[in-house]
Amino acid sequence: MVDTVRSSLPDGSSLAYGVATAAYQIEGAVAEDGRGASIWDTFAARPGAVKDGLDGSVACDSYHRYEEDLDLVAAVGAGWYRFSIAWPRIVPEGVGRVETRGLDYYDRLVDAALARGLSPTATLYHWDLPQALEDRDGWLNRDTAEAFADYAMVVHDRLGDRVGVWATHNEPWCAAYLGYSAGVHAPGRREGGAGHRAAHHLLLGHGLAAERLHAAGVEDLGIVLNLAPFWPEDPDDPELVAATDGIDAIRNRVWLGPLVDGRYDDGLLAVAPELADTDLVRDGDLALVQGSADWVGVNYYTPFRTAAPGAAARHPEADAYPGSAPVSFVVREPRTDIGWEVDASGLEELLVDTSARTGLPVLVTENGAAYPDETLDDQDRIAYLRDHIAATERARQGGADVRAYIVWTLLDNFEWAEGYTKTFGIVHVDPQGPTRTPKASFHWLAEHLNSSSVGVGVTP
Ligand code: FCB
Repeated sequence: MVDTVRSSLPDGSSLAYGVATAAYQIEGAVAEDGRGASIWDTFAARPGAVKDGLDGSVACDSYHRYEEDLDLVAAVGAGWYRFSIAWPRIVPEGVGRVETRGLDYYDRLVDAALARGLSPTATLYHWDLPQALEDRDGWLNRDTAEAFADYAMVVHDRLGDRVGVWATHNEPWCAAYLGYSAGVHAPGRREGGAGHRAAHHLLLGHGLAAERLHAAGVEDLGIVLNLAPFWPEDPDDPELVAATDGIDAIRNRVWLGPLVDGRYDDGLLAVAPELADTDLVRDGDLALVQGSADWVGVNYYTPFRTAAPGAAARHPEADAYPGSAPVSFVVREPRTDIGWEVDASGLEELLVDTSARTGLPVLVTENGAAYPDETLDDQDRIAYLRDHIAATERARQGGADVRAYIVWTLLDNFEWAEGYTKTFGIVHVDPQGPTRTPKASFHWLAEHLNSSSVGVGVTP
């Protein structure tokens, strides 16, 4: 039994800064050191699933270049490095045999981060489910939640003496609804209300892991959610307001209800009757989830404006809100290269609301923008980051307990179904190299962190 790290969350006297990545998006080396297949390997191989038919098999080759990458994180002056651990590297079949070489890799990564004065922040699930578990129905199978908790403990046993801040899931909304309802993310299933079932099992997995991690001494355990503000274009249209409420339930309240109140609310159950099924939601499940997080992570990119159906083009993610009344999504200018509206006031609103709703410390665990990568002089990205950091500070002044702001992302990388076409990095990666070249936003951030004399998290 290793000594566990004491509280590592910053105290909030100033905002801590970090930079984030995720395993499948940067590591490559998918066949190395005994790694098992993940659902993203399988999904990306399906014709038409990912733009240009590309995958994460090489990505940024961070599996071999992590020292170089951590040098960049240190050079930019961010105190935190948020990374994710690939479950199929640790437990290649999802359950059972542990692959020590996978643990060794993250061991080296954590030591290399600490050697540079960075606080490593580990996310246990950033969407790369072992394919062997999907072969047994993935997140639709309750056993996957148990398997996740077992895997979490294996990782903690190895890294728990050096990693202080842990997250269970990254954006479980995407894993559940884009994966099992809309079919645009792995495992690519379009099964309507299945997303609700997957959501419950993801929450259960979080709760089971949280219980055991806390018992092992973890003090700073969170969950990372892509909560979103929804703004009806016509707030006086009762039908639109009701439909928007159903969408809000599936995107936001499905997580916050169990975490804060230990229940799914009635408005949610009205659009997601699956969550009233007592075979799915068993006695004790929601009680386990209630109060299980010490902090909540918010990933924010854009607000969502809703309109009566037919008023605007159908949003590609519309199938990801199964059971809700149809709405259109209106996207105003300016937009980033991925088509997401830029409006920093959405982040301020979300932080204030999330802090009040949860009473927990809030971390901005991801925020950033895709802009075309022809130029290293990415002034648009600088403006985006500057405005969103200012919005975060305004939320703090407005009383929101926001402790950290973490940029998505260090490197141009594998952007899921968009392949390599949408680049969010503050560092350009030449796919031929993959050589890293800091962009203007990297230098801007370094200056911002120096001049505001912040950016240093609490190093365990
Ligand atoms: C989030 C994901 C992250 C990245 C950004 C752009 O939804 O968590 O991996 O793809 O979007």
